[in-house]
Parts: sequence; C-alpha cells; structure tokens
Amino acid sequence: MAKILVTGGLGFIGSHTVVELVNAGYEPVIVDDLSNSQLAILDQLNTIIGHKPAFYQLDLTLETDVQTLALAEPEIEGIIHFAAFKAVGESVDLPLKYYRNNFYSLINLLNAYYSKPVNFVFSSSCTVYGQPEKLPVTEDAPVQPAQSPYGNTKQICEEILQDMIASGGSKYKVISLRYFNPVGAHESALIGELPIGVPQNLVPFITQSAIGKRGPITVFGSDYNTPDGSAIRDYIHVVDLAKAHVAALKLAAKESFTGYDMFNLGTGKGSSVLEVINAFEQSTGVKLDYKIGPRRAGDVEQVWGDVTKSAEKLGWKTELGIDVMMSSAWKWEKYIAQNPLN
Ligand code: WQD
Repeated sequence: MAKILVTGGLGFIGSHTVVELVNAGYEPVIVDDLSNSQLAILDQLNTIIGHKPAFYQLDLTLETDVQTLALAEPEIEGIIHFAAFKAVGESVDLPLKYYRNNFYSLINLLNAYYSKPVNFVFSSSCTVYGQPEKLPVTEDAPVQPAQSPYGNTKQICEEILQDMIASGGSKYKVISLRYFNPVGAHESALIGELPIGVPQNLVPFITQSAIGKRGPITVFGSDYNTPDGSAIRDYIHVVDLAKAHVAALKLAAKESFTGYDMFNLGTGKGSSVLEVINAFEQSTGVKLDYKIGPRRAGDVEQVWGDVTKSAEKLGWKTELGIDVMMSSAWKWEKYIAQNPLN
C-alpha cells in the first residue's frame, strides 16, 4: 500500500482526507503538532476506518524533527501538506508567528524528501485571488496583493513550490489545491471542525449559535453589490474536498504529469450569507437568530470558483450540496456537545 504523509492529519480537512485515503487504498501516516487539533481524533478515525493510523506528534518547524521523520518514513509516495496556521485575524496581529510556522514547515518538509520522487499536494486558498474581476474565477486569474499575512503565506508558499519545480533540482511533482470555503462534516459525525474559542468562520458560528453556545449570528454587511446584499462565497463540503486530494495524488502519480499545477476546489456555485442561514434552517428545521451588522474588514464581496479545470484534469467534482453541508455540520455540533473530545 502506498504510504502518504498527511501533515495536519488530525485537523479538520486533514482528518477527513485520512478517511478518504484509506477508502481509496492508501496508507496515511499522520503528522500533527496538536496545536489546533485533538489527539482524540485518532480514536475517532479508528472508529471510522477500523484501525489507528500511524501518527507522529512533531513540530515541522524544527528541522531536526523533520529529518528524523524522513529517516523513520523513507518510503513515502506522497505528502499532503495541510499543517499551517490559518486564522486570518490572528495573522494580522502576529505576522511572525504565521510566517515562521507556515514557511519553516514547508521548507523543512521539502528539504527532507528533496531527493525522492514524492508527489506533493499543497493546501492553498482562493484567498490568493482577492476580489477577482471575472466570476467564476479561473486558475489563471491574477494573484492579488494579499489582504493578510495568512493570505501572504499561501501566495508565497505557492511561489516557493513553483520556484523549486522550475529549478529542476528535485524529484518532486507538485499540485496546489486552492480551497474555497470548506464546511460540513463526515456523515458519521465522528469528525468535524473544532474551532478554538469564538469561531471566526460562518458555518461553525451558525452551528454554535444554534446549539446555544453563542448569541445571535451577525451578518457582516448587507449593502454589498449582490442580489440580497450579503457577501457570496463558494462553500464546499469537506468530504468532497478530501476526495479531491486523492484525485490530486492519482494525477501526480501519472507519468504524463510533470512539474507543477494548481486547481480550484469549489462547487462552482456561490451562496450568500443569508442563503447559507436559510439553507441551515431549511435542512435542519432549526430556527436561527441573526442580525445585520457592518461589513468585516478585509472581506471580499463575492467569489466563487470555475471548476472546469478540476473536472477535466483531476476528474473530480463535488457531489454534496449546501443542504448536506449544513445538516452534517449540525449533526457534528450536536455530537460534540454530547461527547466533548477534550
Ligand atoms: C464567509 C462569509 C463573512 C462570520 C476565510 C479566509 C479564507 C479561508 C476560509 C482558511 C463572509 C460572513 C462570517 C460571521 C458573517 N481560510 N460571516 N458572520 O472570510 O470567506 O474565508 O476562511 O483557512 O482564507 O479568509 O470565510 O467563513 O469567515 O466568512 O456574516 O459571523 O460569512 O463576512 O462573507 P471567508 P468565513
């Protein structure tokens, strides 16, 4: 079985990808520093996939730790690099924390496996597009000046990977996946998103508000140039997103694939904040309490992805709609309220 290193494999997207890797016949090897995840997710994965995956708790920013990892796991076919700090607001307050973590970990990993033929999948973000001029946005749209140090790390990490491939010195093949807005949870409700503190993202705030952990939801802006005035995003179910990583590994493994490529991971369809709130109410039967507030600094008005290239080259498209995104996120919120993991 081909071994795949999954950094950040106990996190939200990482844990769902571990499940899909096993479903596809791969052997995931998880690396995580537990800075934004729980060890208990390993047990949850055990329940879903029937065994505990290999796990290394280590800090990828420490070069010696990563080299030790490469010695312990020399035979890997792929790396899916999720591990990164991702809170936009925190990155504005603590830029060095973000630059240190997100750059050191990428560079240490690349160095550790530099001489090996490894297929490398990088977690990037639609944040690189800023507010695109044309919607849906395609992969060849210009990368815009970053709105936050977090967004900047995604842009620069993409550049680091492209420069490394252009240099021709390594045996890597690299695919960057530009995520739109991942939401939802596994159908088992055994894994899902575990935000630290007050959720900054819309869907975890909705589910926590619905269960009574938070007050009413604030809709950030109702005066955007959109049909209902609230901002539009391309929400994608995390299980669909996870499956795209398996598709990316398969594409990179082909002899015909060389070098570097990047793909949008979205549904190709935008939903406004008010539409998301409505979809939650419709699919769960739970009424939400919300109010309209001012715009949030740094937010773009509307963005959704063109997924033609992903469909053609990755042979992947989403299967789960906004209703399943909402109902699965809600099922997870209720599960975690009954079964706290920490
Ligand atoms: C979605 C929409 C908000 C909360 C961010 C990062 C991005 C990516 C994912 C990840 C926006 C509105 C939100 C609330 C609201 N990074 N909203 N009330 O901002 O599109 O993307 O997370 O690792 O890089 O920028 O996602 O979920 O925060 O917001 O009205 O309480 O919901 O204004 O329009 P966003 P989000």
